[in-house]
Amino acid sequence: MRSLTLQILLAGANLFTGIDARLYARQSASNVTAPAYPPSYCTNNTTSAVPPPSKFGYILFRGFKPLDINGPVSALATLGRSRHIDLSMIAETLEPVTSAPLLPSMNLPNSTSFVTMLPTHTFATAPEDLEVLMIPGGSGSRSPYLNATLTYLQTTKPKLRNLITVCTGSLVASRAGLLDGKYATTNKQGWVGAVATNSHVHWVPQARWVVDGNI
Ligand SMILES: *[C@@H]1O[C@H](CO)[C@@H](O)[C@H](O)[C@H]1NC(C)=O
Ligand SMILES: *[C@@H]1O[C@H](CO)[C@@H](O)[C@H](O)[C@H]1NC(C)=O
Ligand SMILES: *[C@@H]1O[C@H](CO)[C@@H](O)[C@H](O)[C@H]1NC(C)=O
Ligand SMILES: *[C@@H]1O[C@H](CO)[C@@H](O)[C@H](O)[C@H]1NC(C)=O
Ligand SMILES: *[C@@H]1O[C@H](CO)[C@@H](O)[C@H](O)[C@H]1NC(C)=O
Repeated sequence: MRSLTLQILLAGANLFTGIDARLYARQSASNVTAPAYPPSYCTNNTTSAVPPPSKFGYILFRGFKPLDINGPVSALATLGRSRHIDLSMIAETLEPVTSAPLLPSMNLPNSTSFVTMLPTHTFATAPEDLEVLMIPGGSGSRSPYLNATLTYLQTTKPKLRNLITVCTGSLVASRAGLLDGKYATTNKQGWVGAVATNSHVHWVPQARWVVDGNI
């Protein structure tokens, strides 16, 4: 029997081909229909002519949520044992990026329960041929100091095969205008704030995830 981990990785690898992207329509809160399982992108499509992507990038900004990065990066690390995978960690500068929130007022107990990650590239030096770019969520997704990040996303998006956001990472994409006219979702605890960032997005309240085109 194929292990669950392998199935998840296969699903992820096939998702990254972007071929079978599907769209979940807006569903009312009182009548939620579970999506068909397995979704079409979980099929082992051996006839696909498009090789799976190998060049991945992650956006880093202060106040990122470590889980949003470490989960997908762990999957990529496993995938990287069977084929070549490049992962770039991309930020405004090469300084270590902390998951600590921007303001002391957002950390009233003065906790030190945060981690730092090291960027491998700046927005200026990031690989031009990235295929999949991922944006984490976290309190920093609401930061007013993301202008350089938003500009990078706007210039890079047309070159990507897939843009993936995790949790409130969709706020960052929304703020960059990349979700205009598209279906999207986000963490339901941040729902009101997310919807307020951009009224041109079809925010789907009853969805754990949404695929629209190559996002
Ligand atoms: C949910 O929506 C479907 C399709 O519109 C409808 O047939 C069904 O009766 C609804 N179920 C409930 C519990 O509202
Ligand atoms: C995909 O399906 C083909 C044909 O059935 C099979 O040979 C191959 O092992 C499968 N690949 C994986 C990774 O399951
Ligand atoms: C598999 O990939 C091929 C080539 O991209 C595509 O035409 C076909 O529709 C896919 N099949 C399924 C079942 O997704
Ligand atoms: C946290 O630090 C600030 C200033 O450094 C201090 O005013 C506050 O009392 C501290 N809070 C706690 C819970 O220790
Ligand atoms: C970011 O850009 C917006 C819109 O152009 C501008 O109003 C704002 O002042 C900029 N923020 C910073 C911190 O530069």
